[in-house]
Amino acid sequence: MNQFDLLIKNGMVYTAVDSFEADIAVKDGKIIALGQNLGNAERVIDAEGMLVLPGGIDAHCHIEQESSTRIMTADDFYSGSVSAAFGGNTTFLPFAAQHRGQSLREVVDTARDRARTKSVIDYGLHLIISDPTEKVLEEELPALIKEGYTSFKVYMTYEMLKINDREMLDILALARKNGAMTMVHAENNEVITWITERLLTRGYHAPKFHAVSHAPIAESEASRRAIDLARLVDAPLLIVHVSEPEAARAILEARNNGLPIYGETCPQYLFLTAEDLNKNGMEGAKYCCSPPPRDKAAQEAIWLGLRNGTFQVFSSDHAPYRFDESGKFHAGANPSFKQIANGVPGLETRMPLLFSEGVLKGRLTLNEFVALTSTNAARIYGLHPRKGSLAIGSDADITIWDPKWGRTITQDMLHDNMDYTPYEGMEVTGWPRIVIIRGRVAVEEETLKLDRGAGEFLKRTPAKPGLEPLPSSPLSPLRNFGANLL
Ligand code: URP
Ligand code: ZN
Ligand code: ZN
Repeated sequence: MNQFDLLIKNGMVYTAVDSFEADIAVKDGKIIALGQNLGNAERVIDAEGMLVLPGGIDAHCHIEQESSTRIMTADDFYSGSVSAAFGGNTTFLPFAAQHRGQSLREVVDTARDRARTKSVIDYGLHLIISDPTEKVLEEELPALIKEGYTSFKVYMTYEMLKINDREMLDILALARKNGAMTMVHAENNEVITWITERLLTRGYHAPKFHAVSHAPIAESEASRRAIDLARLVDAPLLIVHVSEPEAARAILEARNNGLPIYGETCPQYLFLTAEDLNKNGMEGAKYCCSPPPRDKAAQEAIWLGLRNGTFQVFSSDHAPYRFDESGKFHAGANPSFKQIANGVPGLETRMPLLFSEGVLKGRLTLNEFVALTSTNAARIYGLHPRKGSLAIGSDADITIWDPKWGRTITQDMLHDNMDYTPYEGMEVTGWPRIVIIRGRVAVEEETLKLDRGAGEFLKRTPAKPGLEPLPSSPLSPLRNFGANLL
């Protein structure tokens, strides 16, 4: 009789804080022992020469989601989760997106139905709130937070999604009271619209003008404003997909002042630039996302932010719109930059790119890599210690990396439902060989081993980031008035 279901032997284990040589024993989907000479198992995996890491958590991706202009993403919960698994992810957190007039409950039910029979990896759902009515704020959101939807994204731009500062304060105060995390897409809508109108009037339609219209100042101004609004009501806030140095600096300064402000960045801000939007003909449409990729100096600032505590989370912001009329060209074959669907894919390439260019090039330690791609997201979004950790009692979500596996990224090798990758032709070293979810092998020998629907919904707890900067700083100006005002 075997003691364990699975034993991973001879690997080098890395967590967000430690590294050690140990075997990992798994029973009933959980890690139950770490050490040497642990005993027998149904299945033994020899991880000699491999790195044994917590499974990746992609904390920002758009899966089977309609955009505000009602374009459906190319990936559903099956293709999206399969692609994520091949890229080393064992959990992802897509969005249940509210469009104006919809009830949040209806939106959540639809997303749960879409995911239930399809996702092969575990998943939670963030909410997108575009219509914070009294019913949403007083009834739906507090109830949904209790049911495990403990984070929600709001937009400061996009005509059909944006909320105003007053609505943002309502949402931040509610999040504070209920232990939830607000995520913000911080770009100043008026600035973008003002520039866009002038560009279009002068006949500047090409994709490259998308990057001109989404000026860095639009992002930094909105980021600073969002931080101040969060400070006013003493609420935590996570600024998503940060692309440029001034916004990054505002986050770091807030953290250094003791505020519970968090930052996320994405591969497109390390590996693409605005020059990519200027490729031949409409090719540039492939790289249109918001905020847009910037320049080489911005890339360096984002790399620095991954090391100096500005960013806690590195996510894909996988927003898959194909290079055809179903996606990028939904408005016709020759759209202006304003009509091109926004977003780039990246679920499967997120971790290999960061491993190759970050860890192997000496910019990040392996512990930082684990923190940025898994552990911090688990903490911030209420999944820790079940996820994001290789500890006794944690889910056996494990990615066994081959640090020497050299690959050239091509769309053909990826498993999403896209027709391009922005990283086509990039050479990377290091890719997951085996991906294990709750003790079950999901990917091995470049083959999917789990069925549709194998993934479980994750009811999340209120955010307990444990990553707060030292409380040394200007706190909320309203704090001394007590809870009455908030
Ligand atoms: O361009 C992007 N990032 N599209 C996806 C939606 C969003 O704002 O994250
Ligand atoms: Zn966004
Ligand atoms: Zn997004």
